[in-house]
Amino acid sequence: MAVASTSSSTNWVNTRPTFSSSPRRRLGSSSICYRKKHNSKTIHCAIDTQSILRFPNRSPCKESTSTCHPESPSSSSFSYSPAAPRNWNLFQKAAAMALDAIENGLTTGEKKHPLPKTVDPGVQIAGNFSPVPEQPVRHFLPVAGKIPDDIQGVYLRNGANPFFQPTSGHHLFDGDGMIYAVKFDQGSASYACRFTETQRHVQERAIGKPIFPKAIGELHGHSGIAKLLLFYARGLCGLVDCSQGIGVANAGLVYFNNHLLAMSEDDLPYHVRVTPSGDLKTVGRYSFNEQLKLNSTMIAHPKLDPVSGELFALSYDVIKKPYLKYFRFSPEGKKSEDVAIDLKTPTMVHDFAITENFVVIPDHQVVFNMSEMITGGSPVVYDNEKVSRFGVLDKYASDGSGIKWVEVPDCFCFHLWNAWEEPESGEVVVIGSCMTPADSIFNESDKELKSVLSEIRLNLKTGESSRRAIISPENDVNLEIGMVNKNLLGRKTTYAYLAVAEPWPKVSGFAKVNLSTGETSKFIYGDSKYGGEPLFLPNSENEDDGHVLAFVHDEKTWESELQIVNSKTLELEATVKLPTRVPYGFHGTFISTDDLATQALS
Ligand SMILES: [Fe+2]
Repeated sequence: MAVASTSSSTNWVNTRPTFSSSPRRRLGSSSICYRKKHNSKTIHCAIDTQSILRFPNRSPCKESTSTCHPESPSSSSFSYSPAAPRNWNLFQKAAAMALDAIENGLTTGEKKHPLPKTVDPGVQIAGNFSPVPEQPVRHFLPVAGKIPDDIQGVYLRNGANPFFQPTSGHHLFDGDGMIYAVKFDQGSASYACRFTETQRHVQERAIGKPIFPKAIGELHGHSGIAKLLLFYARGLCGLVDCSQGIGVANAGLVYFNNHLLAMSEDDLPYHVRVTPSGDLKTVGRYSFNEQLKLNSTMIAHPKLDPVSGELFALSYDVIKKPYLKYFRFSPEGKKSEDVAIDLKTPTMVHDFAITENFVVIPDHQVVFNMSEMITGGSPVVYDNEKVSRFGVLDKYASDGSGIKWVEVPDCFCFHLWNAWEEPESGEVVVIGSCMTPADSIFNESDKELKSVLSEIRLNLKTGESSRRAIISPENDVNLEIGMVNKNLLGRKTTYAYLAVAEPWPKVSGFAKVNLSTGETSKFIYGDSKYGGEPLFLPNSENEDDGHVLAFVHDEKTWESELQIVNSKTLELEATVKLPTRVPYGFHGTFISTDDLATQALS
């Protein structure tokens, strides 16, 4: 395995002033272009994260060193019922005080016991997992190297950024959704980050405290049940409106039918608009023109077919049957009928895959068992008795009766990178990272986390499966979040770009893997530098022509940057110095300038 490129210490050298014809130049933070030198040095998995829990002042630009752009959107465009506390009646005020007192007593009791690492905010949002304030758009950022001419548009990445400091259990996945955006325009770059103004975020800001239950961090055991009851009691008293979704919209992003959608699997998507200046504005909760029910959900990894332009999606339910539904949208956004998928137990289905003709649905061993809460446990559990399997269903099926289930024992893929058909063998090939322990993201474990890039073959003729590690044991490396060339999704791909999950969940670089041969080249971000998902942006018909974009944070200097790497040579071509810190986060997307021009307003 080759270590193709590394970068470590950064020396920013003032080179020359650059001038833009943009009338907004006078508002930008800097017109100076910087060039940096790169020293070659290999990183050996530095896993130290600062243990300080950093929480920002809530005014924007707290961490900024220069002026904000004055054309920032207002903080909220929503008016939800119920009204803010100042408009509560006497009964509501008394009820709020009583429920607050109960919650305070509950929280005080919880603090007497140490929290598991998986829900301890001191662990989950320490260091560069800690939140940042919003950053209105800043233009003409310092650039080292040259931004490639073909990169025109906006790179967006989602992440969890809790607005309020947690008062009890908090998992990394529980934070309020924030989108971080770098917009490219003729070789210059701007940056902004904004909360996605979900219903829960707007209501909690109005009330001044966190009141919506945290899906993973708080819903454990008896206190989790109590938190749920308190939430519903507040709803009954009209103190909170829980009828319009409770999700955080922090995980995925997709640009579909002229809409940028921010998603988490516990709610409907949220429509967010990129403004002409490169800022972000939440339009609202998005039901695809009321084709999705307001009390329903959609997972954060819908699949956009690059050939047909259709969007394929799932929705799971942890309480009632059907536990899983599949549906699709035409390129114009018309939804199909729901197809119920027959699962025996409510199961976490974070991701799935498409091929030219099929959807491939994992039914793994991480399941929801709400009764575990009654006995003091987590509702997300690993079911040792269940046999992991994949379902293969015709994309255009009108019901789930034709689904073919193929067992793949002891397989848990949190994400699937691609899948395709091989008609000559009757197989569907699935590419994913098999994670052990399967529930390590949700439950504390002493076992070492492994994430093995794997090829899983599902034989639709025989009903049998096979699984192999793509990378040879001597070059073994943990690989998670990443992608293949999205223009080939559902078709056979040779390459994948995946984060080097050593350490994890912050990552030290990315690897370009030949899925046929296992040949792997790594790009390491630099000494004390870490990031998250690498985004591959193709620029020609050749599968691996293009660039890899990644937000990178330097834990020594406490500064963040966007690295742009040539995907053929794995050489760093440009680095954009960001005005404020970018926390490690989740999934991203890129919208071209042409696509931005046709954005929907609603
Ligand atoms: Fe994900």
